[in-house]
Amino acid sequence: MEKKELINQGKVKSVFTTDNADEVIIEFRDDMTAGDGARKEVMTNKGAYNAVISAKIFKVLENEGVETQFIDLPENNVMLAKKLEMIPIEVIVRNIATGSLVRKYPIEEGKKLDPPIVQMDFKDDEYHDPMLNDSLIQALGIATPEEVDILTEKALKINDVLTEFFKDAGIILVDFKVEFGKDSQGNILLGDEISPDGCRLWDAETLEMLDKELFREGKDSEVMDAYVEVYNRIIPDDEKV
Ligand code: C5P
Repeated sequence: MEKKELINQGKVKSVFTTDNADEVIIEFRDDMTAGDGARKEVMTNKGAYNAVISAKIFKVLENEGVETQFIDLPENNVMLAKKLEMIPIEVIVRNIATGSLVRKYPIEEGKKLDPPIVQMDFKDDEYHDPMLNDSLIQALGIATPEEVDILTEKALKINDVLTEFFKDAGIILVDFKVEFGKDSQGNILLGDEISPDGCRLWDAETLEMLDKELFREGKDSEVMDAYVEVYNRIIPDDEKV
């Protein structure tokens, strides 16, 4: 398995073709960005921590019947994955009100959201990821109504599985973002990554932040300790790398 052509250079990951046309190699880089890429820093070993955390979470989800693009983790920061045509929608699930939700709407910070909010944003830095609704999704031609239902159902299932998974590690899953894509047969699979970059994770006892929000708040020196803490809590000792 060899990296061939670079087909997508994202803000923190690079995607390469391989010998197999149905597979890609995803390299998790050490870059960290905020504000649609306006601020960028390098965090040593962040790529490897996120790749190992993502691989673990994808395996947990697969065991619970959520199909993902994950195949293998041949190196700590390199994932072999099924090639997907990504749907440009960021599906966000919120269990506790914080972040852009409380900035944009009169909802109290920390309010428990039951049922959770499922929100879909258009993944486009140039337009700053504006929020979508069903008719906007139709007008943009990015998914059918049936596909939107599948995304919602899958995101809620992921929320159920991961809320329990993180709870066992003493972590509250506050909110998270997931992305999906279609494989060569047209099946919708979970893609991209699930890591502290795209989740809000709070220590269940202290409510201390264990995710990228620290970087968004300029607490750069605390970021990697938080990611390592998540890694230590969710990766069993015999799976640690
Ligand atoms: O900023 P906001 O409150 O909308 O973020 C909600 C959740 O989605 C957070 O967990 C955040 O990390 C994630 N997110 C993301 N990428 C974005 C926007 C939000 O991972 N572009």
